[in-house]
Amino acid sequence: MLVAKTINEFKIARKELKGIIGFVPTMGALHKGHLSLIQKAKEENEHVIVSIFVNPTQFLEGEDLDKYPKKEIADKEICSVAGVDILFMPTAQDMYSDDELKLLAPKVRGYVLDGFNRPGHFDGVLQVVMKLLNLVNPNNAYFGKKDAQQLSLISQMAKNYFLGANIVPCDIVRDSDGLALSSRNIYLTKEERTKALSIPASLQKATQIIISGELDTNIIKNNMIDILNKNVSSIDYVEIVNRDFKKIEKIELKNTIILVAAKVGQTRLIDNLWI
Ligand code: PAJ
Repeated sequence: MLVAKTINEFKIARKELKGIIGFVPTMGALHKGHLSLIQKAKEENEHVIVSIFVNPTQFLEGEDLDKYPKKEIADKEICSVAGVDILFMPTAQDMYSDDELKLLAPKVRGYVLDGFNRPGHFDGVLQVVMKLLNLVNPNNAYFGKKDAQQLSLISQMAKNYFLGANIVPCDIVRDSDGLALSSRNIYLTKEERTKALSIPASLQKATQIIISGELDTNIIKNNMIDILNKNVSSIDYVEIVNRDFKKIEKIELKNTIILVAAKVGQTRLIDNLWI
């Protein structure tokens, strides 16, 4: 595996790779969720490129940019064992200049839910993903459904800007107790982790209600909020939207996403369910 720490090193290594390329962008502190994306990319492409870059422009003032978990040695080992061809780990100085042209997320999908709670966050995500896709020029790029709104916006960007890469959605990977894997889970104390399980539990409850035939989204949301209120410190949102991220009154089968964002202690967690 070649580790490229500058854009120049990366460009030289990238030129050597011929054939179908799969790309997995990440911010590191890799876990089995990231690994599942890398494995899917391995199965579906001749070569795999992974990037690790904690992108400053998608963090808001006061967020965890400085303390975002870093595990460079373990990350390299995971990528190497997984058969990654190039691991790209650029610096912020290399990726950004002083006066940057910006991309703005669209209002409907970009400034509701996570975009409302973290205004500007998705502008930063789109900016860095555009840069990475242009540098890597992959055939396929892999993104988790865990970050449903991010995935939706990146798919829209690829379409609106005629990007060459095919955006591949990947299923959410969970721990055995049901908690969706996240680099931020390491912030949780044992007690908080138990409370955090109310998040997947609320989504399971939603599934049960829907299976029983109840499709009214307000009833489903209220049931979920009841479970969450007993456990989490605060709820950022519980929302039920269609695949265009518009709120819906009734569940539409194969076109619905149920989303939760909540703080447990100081840690903000997100999870969702695609129906
Ligand atoms: P990061 O949070 O490191 O996630 C990298 C990719 O892994 C994302 O596509 C995310 O959805 C996926 N992922 C995370 N946890 C997952 C899980 N439990 N199951 C399946 N996939 C999971 O998302 C980002 O980084 C950044 O915003 C990035 C796209 C790299 C741009 O900076």
